[in-house]
Amino acid sequence: MKYATITGLGYYVPDNVITNEDLTQYMETSDEWIQERTGIQQRRYFTYGKDTNASMAAAASRMALERANVTAKEVDLIVYATITPDYFFPGSGFLMQRELGMDGIGVIDIRDQCSGFVYALSIADQFIRTGTYKTILVVGSEIQSTWIDKSNQGRSVAVIFGDGAGAAVVQATSDPAHRILSTHLHADGRFAEDLYVKDPGSSRPNRSATKEMVDEGGFNVVMNGNAVFKHAVVRFTEVIQEALKANELSPEDISLLVPHQANIRISDYVRQQLKLPEEKVINNIQRYGNTTAASIPIALNEAWEQGRVRPGDLVCLAAFGSGFTWASALIRW
Ligand code: COA
Repeated sequence: MKYATITGLGYYVPDNVITNEDLTQYMETSDEWIQERTGIQQRRYFTYGKDTNASMAAAASRMALERANVTAKEVDLIVYATITPDYFFPGSGFLMQRELGMDGIGVIDIRDQCSGFVYALSIADQFIRTGTYKTILVVGSEIQSTWIDKSNQGRSVAVIFGDGAGAAVVQATSDPAHRILSTHLHADGRFAEDLYVKDPGSSRPNRSATKEMVDEGGFNVVMNGNAVFKHAVVRFTEVIQEALKANELSPEDISLLVPHQANIRISDYVRQQLKLPEEKVINNIQRYGNTTAASIPIALNEAWEQGRVRPGDLVCLAAFGSGFTWASALIRW
């Protein structure tokens, strides 16, 4: 019987730190407003000419490969999640593949927004358990800072997001004691427009990208913050419970919950619903903001580096985001 296990983790965050105070140059906001509503103190922005979505992913992947003691040539497949690719197409996974010299292997380019990493991990898990592949690189990478509207009009969205990348090497094992136990994916497209970027879109009268679209704000992130918040707290809890039930486990069995870093109030609410003590939930949104598909692997990396993920631990990854999408993965480390 084949199982999938995570053998290496890596991440990259750009060195350009943007504090809440820095944002007051562009919009009317305050450190107090941002911290009170989201918990965020600072985030990272990429440096033009130095970082790209693919280069950040490559840096994260190099670290993950090294820690897994796996060479680039041993990787059979890349599953790459991003909603902020370097080109409209092809996806940044292909650019990262080129940079890492992994020519010839398949690249699955997925979006799935803030749930992207868990969706990507689920795909890797299936391919390994069917025996198709032995070593898969799972990546989440985002440059949000060039998409957000930093004027007053976009401030409720702009203050939340940041840039970064995370990666995991997922490999086949026959050891049932250390493996991905299950993954659970959900979506509800009825809420697609509650968190979305409309343009550039293909179903337009003439061209898919025009100056008018830019002027009308079609390229900006539109978010119904209230709806996102209300759905997130319910779905996060539900999908974690679903994973536990599928494995005949309960919340007290969780060693570490790694939630997508959407908002510290959402994570706190979910933690309370599950009656988990604070030390069992990873929060690093204070330093990175919401990095969409990169948030879970960055948080998992930091937890692992801090010795908070040990062999035998039950680690739960959980995400919610645009789509709406929500997902979880339960891992016996
Ligand atoms: N700084 C200062 N004031 C701001 C602001 C900012 N960055 N953004 C919005 N405001 C103002 C609004 O204009 C509004 O002013 P008004 O009362 O004069 O009209 C006021 O603050 C309250 O705005 P509102 O949008 O109702 O705030 P909120 O308490 O609902 O918080 C969010 C907004 C976005 C922080 C909150 O809805 C949220 O966290 N939602 C979930 C978002 C999320 O997690 N997204 C990622 C999902 S993966």
